[in-house]
Amino acid sequence: MADTSYMARKSVADIVGSADAEGHSLSKTLGATSITAMGIGAIIGAGIFVLTGTAAAQFAGPSIMLSFVLGGIACAFVGLCYSELAAMLPVCGSSYTYTYATLGEIFAWIIGWDLILEYAMGAATVAVGWSGYIVSLLRNIGIDIPPVMAAAPGTVIKLADGTTTTGIVNLPAIVIIAILTTLLVLGTKESARLNNVMVAVKLVVVVAFIALGAFFIKPANWHPFIPANTGEFGNFGMSGILRGSAVVFFAFIGFDAVSTAAQEAKRPQRDMPIGILGSLVICTVLYILVAGVLTGLVPYAELNVPDPIAKGVDAIGLNWFSILIKIGALTGLTTVILVLLYGQSRIFFTMSQDGLLPPLFARVHPRLQTPHRSQILIGTIVAVVAALTPIGVLGEMVSIGTLFAFILVCGAVIYLRRSDSNAMRPFRVPGVPIVPVLGILFCLLLMVGLPLVTWLRLVVWLVIGMVIYMSYGRKHSRLRFPERR
Ligand code: ALA
Repeated sequence: MADTSYMARKSVADIVGSADAEGHSLSKTLGATSITAMGIGAIIGAGIFVLTGTAAAQFAGPSIMLSFVLGGIACAFVGLCYSELAAMLPVCGSSYTYTYATLGEIFAWIIGWDLILEYAMGAATVAVGWSGYIVSLLRNIGIDIPPVMAAAPGTVIKLADGTTTTGIVNLPAIVIIAILTTLLVLGTKESARLNNVMVAVKLVVVVAFIALGAFFIKPANWHPFIPANTGEFGNFGMSGILRGSAVVFFAFIGFDAVSTAAQEAKRPQRDMPIGILGSLVICTVLYILVAGVLTGLVPYAELNVPDPIAKGVDAIGLNWFSILIKIGALTGLTTVILVLLYGQSRIFFTMSQDGLLPPLFARVHPRLQTPHRSQILIGTIVAVVAALTPIGVLGEMVSIGTLFAFILVCGAVIYLRRSDSNAMRPFRVPGVPIVPVLGILFCLLLMVGLPLVTWLRLVVWLVIGMVIYMSYGRKHSRLRFPERR
């Protein structure tokens, strides 16, 4: 008989079995290098190209480097947990599925709803970052987009003559989301090769910035390394490092997207941990170096701009390099938006198949073979949000939502070790429960670094989710009411 309680959970055997039954067994072609490249492709984006500047200017100063260290440590613990679950449940690899198998349906719904913050709001955040760089690049070639048309209402803009004004709408963000949504509807899949090329461009740009910039650092800009706290929590000092790491945590998001490739890994037990942890280590090292060079080139107080890395390059004084950096940043940001928009539609697809969302989200275009309606709906909402919301607010919402999801993933590892102790685990997190518990504690610590208003926004968001579940998902769940299939 079906379990009709809200805590009904999918069994591990069912999840793995249904993947095979539905013919989801994809060819196992990805090695550790491709998976690592995929991780780097999804990770390096607005976090490093935009938020590093914002966070250094507002919260941490040069000690933003330490914020990256803290974020990296938290992600390493979580990354180990993702590796175990991705190798054990190589289905769609999202934390939504892991939660369905552990804490049950109601929590799975909460996490699925919460993932909208990571994917859809994440795409909006990166689109705002893209807008900052395209405006700057166009200016280099003599095309001026009025600043008020490239910023959300409420964003204060400093004009060249020293006066300030506020934004009206972020048009470039709408444009990039519209283009990428169209590509996704048409079925353009980023192939591993294209992805590798984009990743290479991104890496070259970042490494070139570090290598060239290092020669122009003015060590005086690093003093004081930890600016004194202004008397308010999070405004510099030790609490500023914490607030900074909660904000730049955004830069690490994406390593979890690697888990979706588990089914295509040649040797998941070896390749998944290498791919997830390898991409994390590479990105963390690059981030710390970029943060060091950037704050060494430009006084941190001047970095609160939409294109801080470009500002760093301007300080070097090489115009051609500035253009190259902007093109590289735009390429990098584009792939991240693409992956996030794509990922969002896939999560909705799975939730819809489970009956928790209306069938519209699982409907596939007969010729294009893409969930076109869902993708267009997602694109429209993301574009509206990106057009009207400042990047700081967006970034913090994405960070808190993702940290919340990561905590549940760490919890899922501990839970499944007990409930399904005999399940096949090609990769095992060492030192359970210590490592997952440390993952939970570090994520909580970073969440504490976020302002109260962001917590309140998360609570409001989750309450809205609960209302939707109670009025729709609860009645249509396929797990609890299989006869309604
Ligand atoms: N980590 C991704 C970025 O920084 C989401 O854009």
